[in-house]
Amino acid sequence: MRKPIIAGNWKLNKLTADSKAFIEELGTGLKNIDKDALPEVVVAPTFTSLALVGSMMAECDCQKVSLSAQNCYWEQSGAYTGEVSVEMLEDIGCSFIIIGHSERRQYFCETDEMINKKAKAILAGGLIPIICCGESLEQREAGETDAHIASQIKAAIEGLSAADVAKSAIAYEPIWAIGTGKTCDSVEANRVIAMIRNVVKEAVGAEAADAVRILYGGSVKPETIEEQMAQSDIDGALIGGASLKADSFFSIIEKTAAHMAK
Ligand code: PGA
Repeated sequence: MRKPIIAGNWKLNKLTADSKAFIEELGTGLKNIDKDALPEVVVAPTFTSLALVGSMMAECDCQKVSLSAQNCYWEQSGAYTGEVSVEMLEDIGCSFIIIGHSERRQYFCETDEMINKKAKAILAGGLIPIICCGESLEQREAGETDAHIASQIKAAIEGLSAADVAKSAIAYEPIWAIGTGKTCDSVEANRVIAMIRNVVKEAVGAEAADAVRILYGGSVKPETIEEQMAQSDIDGALIGGASLKADSFFSIIEKTAAHMAK
């Protein structure tokens, strides 16, 4: 059984005081739920809030929440102005790092090769990469979705061992569904995710393909999560907009926990 992941990607939002208030509210919500009954809950604040949120999690009921960064660099140290290493993120309590988000690919020129280097560095540092992939509307309309996603995934996991891929998480996020309110139809999202699982199987074998958790992302809301979780291959969600308010994020967590209890 793959444990679902519910991950909130805060993107470029929240000052430290907002982050603190969010974590306090989320902690209150999670207080009465046993950790085993929960999905793996992950929040990804900006770099400036990571250390604060990490220290809050170490203290309160938010031990039920894992910390994620939204990006990292693959070198450990050195003359790389503006970059942050995996070891530094581990040092402040991160256990996950999102890589290859379409916004990073689009606005910050992140290439498949860079994403592969980051995945290797993250796994070598004992953390879990959340590797994002997704097609544009033009690619979907041109019938290129599967070929594009397959090539992104093959490139991202190139040279990784089966054990490393098994530990990793992948997020399928159609670009046209991100922040638009247009969710991808759940059956179609499940089809693409099953296709990704097959790409993983061909690359590193059936065991890793069975173990790797593949999330859906793109306008996930409390109203959509039940249908998404009911699909055979969707192992949770990467959530932007609806993760910014503790009540809607908590509602998504609760609904996923209810699905797990079935
Ligand atoms: P969204 O963002 O939920 O606001 O569509 C998802 C993401 O970019 O991870």
